[in-house]
Amino acid sequence: MRCRLLRLWTTSLISAGLLVVAGVETRSFTIDYSDDTFVKDGEPFRYISGSIHYTRVPREHWKDRLMKIYAAGLNTIQTYVPWNFHQRRPFQSDFSGNLDFVSFLKLAQDVGLLVILRPGPYSDAGWDFGGLPAWLMESRYVNRNILLRSNNTDYMEAVARWFADLLPRVRPLLYNNGGPIISVQVENEYGSYFACDHNYLRTLHDIMRSYLGDEVILFTTDGASASYLRCGTLERLYATIDFGLTDSPEKVFAVQRQFQPHGPLVCSEFYVESSLDYWGYNHSQQSPQLAAKSLDLLLAYGANVNMYMFEGGTNFGYTSGSLPGAGTKVKFVTTTYDHDAPMSEAGDLREKYHMIREVVYKYVKRPVSPVPPDTLKLSYGQVRMKLIGDILEMLPSVSLPPVKSLYPLCMEDVHQYYGFILYRHISERSYASQELWLDGIRDRGYVIINKMMQGVLVRGEITHLNITLHRGDNLDILVENQGRIFYGNDLNKNQKGIVGNVTVGGLVLQHWTMFPLSLANASARLSSSISGLKAGSDTSGALLSPSLYIGTFVLPSTLSQPLDTYIDMRPWHKGQLFINGNNVGGYWPSLGPQVTLYVPLSFLKPFPASNTVLAFELESAPCPDPCTVRFVDRPFINKTVNVFD
Ligand SMILES: *[C@@H]1O[C@H](CO)[C@@H](O)[C@H](O)[C@H]1NC(C)=O
Ligand SMILES: *[C@@H]1O[C@H](CO)[C@@H](O)[C@H](O)[C@H]1NC(C)=O
Ligand SMILES: *[C@@H]1O[C@H](CO)[C@@H](O)[C@H](O)[C@H]1NC(C)=O
Ligand SMILES: *[C@@H]1O[C@H](CO)[C@@H](O)[C@H](O)[C@H]1NC(C)=O
Ligand SMILES: *[C@@H]1O[C@H](CO)[C@@H](O)[C@H](O)[C@H]1NC(C)=O
Ligand SMILES: *[C@@H]1O[C@H](CO)[C@@H](O)[C@H](O)[C@H]1NC(C)=O
Repeated sequence: MRCRLLRLWTTSLISAGLLVVAGVETRSFTIDYSDDTFVKDGEPFRYISGSIHYTRVPREHWKDRLMKIYAAGLNTIQTYVPWNFHQRRPFQSDFSGNLDFVSFLKLAQDVGLLVILRPGPYSDAGWDFGGLPAWLMESRYVNRNILLRSNNTDYMEAVARWFADLLPRVRPLLYNNGGPIISVQVENEYGSYFACDHNYLRTLHDIMRSYLGDEVILFTTDGASASYLRCGTLERLYATIDFGLTDSPEKVFAVQRQFQPHGPLVCSEFYVESSLDYWGYNHSQQSPQLAAKSLDLLLAYGANVNMYMFEGGTNFGYTSGSLPGAGTKVKFVTTTYDHDAPMSEAGDLREKYHMIREVVYKYVKRPVSPVPPDTLKLSYGQVRMKLIGDILEMLPSVSLPPVKSLYPLCMEDVHQYYGFILYRHISERSYASQELWLDGIRDRGYVIINKMMQGVLVRGEITHLNITLHRGDNLDILVENQGRIFYGNDLNKNQKGIVGNVTVGGLVLQHWTMFPLSLANASARLSSSISGLKAGSDTSGALLSPSLYIGTFVLPSTLSQPLDTYIDMRPWHKGQLFINGNNVGGYWPSLGPQVTLYVPLSFLKPFPASNTVLAFELESAPCPDPCTVRFVDRPFINKTVNVFD
């Protein structure tokens, strides 16, 4: 009975013209260990790949970028799946819009590209918390000593539930199932993490196999040093390495060979640029000539190569990560993740692209594809901004319901995982010129007493301030979460907001109210009340209370559709920018190196609709005159950073 039904079903599929089913069975992607090569459909195969993260490129531009990657001669792309972006709230997955990775991968396949998928669960990438969900830092986990990236029970339960959502969506996209995915990475540079827990890698391996089947190649990636591979590799996982420019492929790949005596040579991250950018550090660049030359050597040596990044893209919203710097300092990743990659943040082709393309076509048999043109950028000019009010006046319109507690709660414990939160304490006694001490500021705190700005606390740099408080005074501390640490041993210490107690004159302050701010949601409401606002008071360079400014503009009537643009935030100081409720990212042109923010066309509304710019300026606005922001048609992300600024 069962057989007959099956036969009937198969027959009807064939008669419906769905013969592709038969073709699927012939698709295979494997490793030939005797010939040291990948094998695709029975033929030796070498990939030349580029990294691009779908979360860092607006969906409307996915196709443009993928076509440009293809035109460079590449046959493969590599992307992470950032868990935290898909699960902003505990166990609630989102695969819609820019998170629709299935559509992204199908698009890649349509364009002619294969895919190397890196589902983590940890992904690093300069991304907030290395892609781990912020809710893992709630005290209910931290107090039980959750050890991230290990076979810890709490952590693995969260991973297992996430993978149960994610991996069934991946399976149909595997190469042998008719999709573009030729291999899947397990964890990411695990060998550089102190835990060195092979049981963790084994558990991840077992989970991935259970959802993805036995055929797909599972692999690991580690820095090219035996000390990393010792902790990062596992016998069942194909071992690959990553490294920057080299003039001796032989020397570097000797490290892979130590752990993977047979099989293809693979560099999973070949750094065609030097480093990512941090606020307060000079823009990092890499010579296109040297990048192309080193790539040539690797390809001549027969290696499979993934270039990191081929397009870096943008850390929109609150997605930039941070890294411990010198001493107790912390470095914060800029909003741009441009990375001086072959393709710019906005998809434009650099000299590096053309030089790499020339090298790649020496090694691929495909006819040379023409290069698509750069997307158009338009300078929309100046937009007049108006002061809506300072953060204290605006609190009722921008705060979610406040939470009360005896001692300050960290952001995660009030379920405000990103952005800004305001802590309020009403003084229960008087203190004359006493020291306010706050070691646990994560990461930047604006201290305000009775609406008067007192000063700024900075994580690892400024932890105290002399203040005078009278009984009944309002002490407000607006805290900015500038992004969680994405790499290293401090991964497990990633709570944000105020972590610990606040003391004044050595006494612990009690009774706090936490106001979680939701600015993107407020921006739509605020824009309807724009008429009748004044242009703001004269600031004369003084530190003002963080304030909200709003402006509107209409695109030219001659444009049928919006075009990409950049916003130049000089001479504004530091803050967060929203356009039509889209969180464009953080700006800090007074520091640099990034001065302009990339504004993709999808954030804009066509003529005759009105577009709204909302700036949450934390330090100092150029108002009332000129009190403008300016849209320009080219980026400026390489301002020289003065160490003495
Ligand atoms: C991982 O930890 C769980 C207990 O939390 C244990 O049952 C399991 O055996 C461990 N996995 C390995 C591979 O040791
Ligand atoms: C803060 O006050 C203390 C005494 O209460 C004083 O020693 C210190 O110099 C003051 N610091 C600043 C920065 O004014
Ligand atoms: C804050 O201070 C109270 C009272 O001294 C103490 O019980 C509590 O443990 C402190 N909290 C932290 C996180 O240090
Ligand atoms: C904020 O807006 C988003 C989408 O626009 C919505 O899903 C969310 O529920 C809103 N949050 C609040 C607190 O209003
Ligand atoms: C920044 O880069 C542009 C080209 O992208 C270049 O023309 C300019 O000289 C650079 N400026 C600085 C300060 O490096
Ligand atoms: C940035 O580069 C300039 C010019 O090369 C140099 O003077 C300055 O010290 C650098 N800044 C930092 C933070 O390294």
